[in-house]
Amino acid sequence: MKRVVFIVSLFLLIGCNPKKEQKVEITPKGNFYKQSEMAALMLLMYETNAQNKQLILEGKQPKEFPEEFLKIHTAQLTDSTDRTADFKTFSDFYLQNMKQVFEPTQESLVNKHNTTINSCIACHQTTCVGPIPKIKKLLIP
Ligand code: HEC
Repeated sequence: MKRVVFIVSLFLLIGCNPKKEQKVEITPKGNFYKQSEMAALMLLMYETNAQNKQLILEGKQPKEFPEEFLKIHTAQLTDSTDRTADFKTFSDFYLQNMKQVFEPTQESLVNKHNTTINSCIACHQTTCVGPIPKIKKLLIP
């Protein structure tokens, strides 16, 4: 008997390329594994900023800048043509703002956090508009 391989071709909203047909293979555990390094990094950035928001609302200072975020410069993208000169500028802008959240400065933590989130949104407006409503939830009103 032939081994049955489940290859499901779906139009999924994966990353930022909903127009491209993505082949999604279902592993024995039933997981999708067609996630790019960049998408995984973005989800980690999302989680960390959600935690920062929580800390700041409790009046606490986030402790340590996560060095793995520097991988934004090298992580493989779903669509490698996204990595342009502008992409680098937006990445630097975002990292620079995020580092401020971990530095003791005169500016309020709420402002620094919101500036960071706005720099996520600034890049997304040029490359990947889908997650913007979700990212906006990270802002502190
Ligand atoms: C320099 C541009 C840039 C910056 C800055 C940026 N993003 Fe992204 N983001 C992208 C791109 C491009 C993708 C698509 C990645 C892929 O599919 O490979 C993405 C994908 C995502 C996704 C979808 C991940 C998924 O499930 O596929 C989320 C959520 C996200 N970003 C949140 C954030 C947050 C939160 C920040 C700031 C903390 C941020 N992004 C900063 C460009 C950026």
